[in-house]
Amino acid sequence: MATVIDGKEVAGSVIAAVKAASEVLLKENGVKTGLAVVIVGNDPASHAYVSSKSRMAKECGFTSVQHTLSQDTSQEELAALVSTLNADPALHGILVQLPLPRHLNSEPIIQSILPEKDVDGLHVVNAGKLATGDLEGGLVSCTPAGSMVFVRRVHGDDLSGLNAVVIGRSNLFGKPMAQLLLAANATVTIAHSRTRDLAAVCRNADILVAAVGRAEMVKADWVKPGATVIDVGINRIAAPEKGEGKTRMVGDVAFAECAAVAGVITPVPGGVGPMTIAMLMANTVIAAYRKAGRKAPKF
Ligand code: GUN
Repeated sequence: MATVIDGKEVAGSVIAAVKAASEVLLKENGVKTGLAVVIVGNDPASHAYVSSKSRMAKECGFTSVQHTLSQDTSQEELAALVSTLNADPALHGILVQLPLPRHLNSEPIIQSILPEKDVDGLHVVNAGKLATGDLEGGLVSCTPAGSMVFVRRVHGDDLSGLNAVVIGRSNLFGKPMAQLLLAANATVTIAHSRTRDLAAVCRNADILVAAVGRAEMVKADWVKPGATVIDVGINRIAAPEKGEGKTRMVGDVAFAECAAVAGVITPVPGGVGPMTIAMLMANTVIAAYRKAGRKAPKF
């Protein structure tokens, strides 16, 4: 039976370090770390995520600003808000919650956030810094950064000689995750929906990271015995055992059967999920340290 990583516990230790870092910055430089979160429209899941981000920012001792815009906000209005937040010296991080309503074009909005305030790590400058191996200068997307904290806890900082397979090639997760693993010297394969014999590719992985958005797709016979399995999926499936119409959350990995083969595995919920918010807080305090001309802490 694999060791199951407790994401809440690891996220708690990151949050404690962020709080300590923000206190030091306030005491020694008189700078209060600031985060602005922008949400457009009425999507209940997005509102839940954004509330927990704003709440956690307060808990970390940050100035926490939330802008809730109506469903019919125009592209120009949203762009004007980002421009105001860019110019506000009290704000070190800006996050525009995705997805935006369908009539809005998210890409120009994301690219209009100043790279040094882009705590989501989605600006091309930050993606480019990561791709060129500049891990010190940019900001790294929160979910891959959080997944990497788990990988480092299991394998240390140097992944030389280890095969890593990332299933999924999105800009938000798969590509930055692969870059982080590569920067740590792993031999990295990015697999996706067009990969031939995905199971065989995955069986070669010492570190297997699944981010495909398909419930319980990764089966036990895809997992190399003793491998580290990181499950980034969040899928809702029917759970008739809980009552009619009820659902439960599962990852992209068939947890019980894979846990019998893996060495280390992350659960869903309670694995990668809590790390995403923790790394958002980490990125915000990193941005604040840099703005104050100080070397940023590592998380
Ligand atoms: N929506 C779901 N995940 C994310 C995220 O990491 N960042 C933003 N901005 N929106 C999201």
